[in-house]
Amino acid sequence: MSFVAMKSVRRDYTLNPGSPFRKTTVLRALRGVELAIEEGEILGLVGESGCGKSTLARLLLGIEQPSQGEVLVDGRPISSFSALERARLIQPVFQDPYSSLNPRMTVATTIGAPLAVQRTGDARARAAAVARMMEAVGLPPYLANAYPVQLSGGQRQRVAIARALIGQPKILVCDEPTSALDVSVQSQILNLLIELHRTFKLTIVLISHNLAVVSHLADRVAVMYLGRVVESGQTDAIFNAPRHPYTRELLRAMLLPQNGTGLPKLALNNEFPSPVAPPPGCSFHPRCERAGALCREAMPELVSALGTGGREVACHDPLPSTA
Ligand SMILES: Nc1ncnc2c1ncn2[C@@H]1O[C@H](COP(=O)(O)OP(=O)(O)OP(=O)(O)O)[C@@H](O)[C@H]1O
Ligand SMILES: [Mg+2]
Repeated sequence: MSFVAMKSVRRDYTLNPGSPFRKTTVLRALRGVELAIEEGEILGLVGESGCGKSTLARLLLGIEQPSQGEVLVDGRPISSFSALERARLIQPVFQDPYSSLNPRMTVATTIGAPLAVQRTGDARARAAAVARMMEAVGLPPYLANAYPVQLSGGQRQRVAIARALIGQPKILVCDEPTSALDVSVQSQILNLLIELHRTFKLTIVLISHNLAVVSHLADRVAVMYLGRVVESGQTDAIFNAPRHPYTRELLRAMLLPQNGTGLPKLALNNEFPSPVAPPPGCSFHPRCERAGALCREAMPELVSALGTGGREVACHDPLPSTA
């Protein structure tokens, strides 16, 4: 059994609830996600803006509940963990270290806050743990009493990472951890994540628009499209021989020079479809040059592709494995 598993996970949002004048609309942010994460791996999660990556992250963190389906960690539904158990097990690192830090708390207080809340050790032991963690994330000791406003973007993200790790969680969910940072700092933070992954034997879910980042860090990749995982597998296999036509388009977009970072701008003829009215059949079919009659009618399930080492693909007519 996988360390973390999502089974047939749906997440609906009701728009305009309670308004007597406007019809309520259901937005299907996740539409049957199947995902397995193994202990100790870095799983990259990619896909266009609005495909449901952050929603998936919130469900993993237990901040929100699925409308249907199950999120299991260590074989237990995440909803059965207490808030404290959850905090000890799984921690987030968000995109924007500017808004995720309390401006009135010093670096040391911020990093030590989870220990204080959990009443772990006495004040001296906590201060020692904070000092060790500051060193582990590359924050010099003289910053202990600094406030967020006095820090650079990279330093703030190091503080956020230290705070996430101080309670020794097993899983780190990083949602675009470097997108708000200067390009020059991004690789420092990514290298730090690689180092921490090794040191603390973490399981990391890395959400990123930037496929170059994912190819560099992730052991495995899951590609999402309109609220579903459409392909997953070993990173090099996915990058060298995508089986889903959507994955191939994402990779092509990455190779365009103007799209080296940031949002993939696909060379596809139409816009990302609406999660309020998803297309019937395969949700990618309106943009897929290979689409046939079956694709317009039946939603393909995510199934393992034979002979491709754990690869899964949700496509009626996948690309050949040597493509
Ligand atoms: N609280 C909410 N209420 C209503 N709709 C929501 C809510 N949160 C997300 N959505 C919708 O769910 C869909 C998925 O959003 P999500 O933020 O998960 O996408 P994403 O893949 O993280 O996008 P991005 O790459 O831009 O961060 C979007 O259509 C979004 O508008
Ligand atoms: Mg997001």
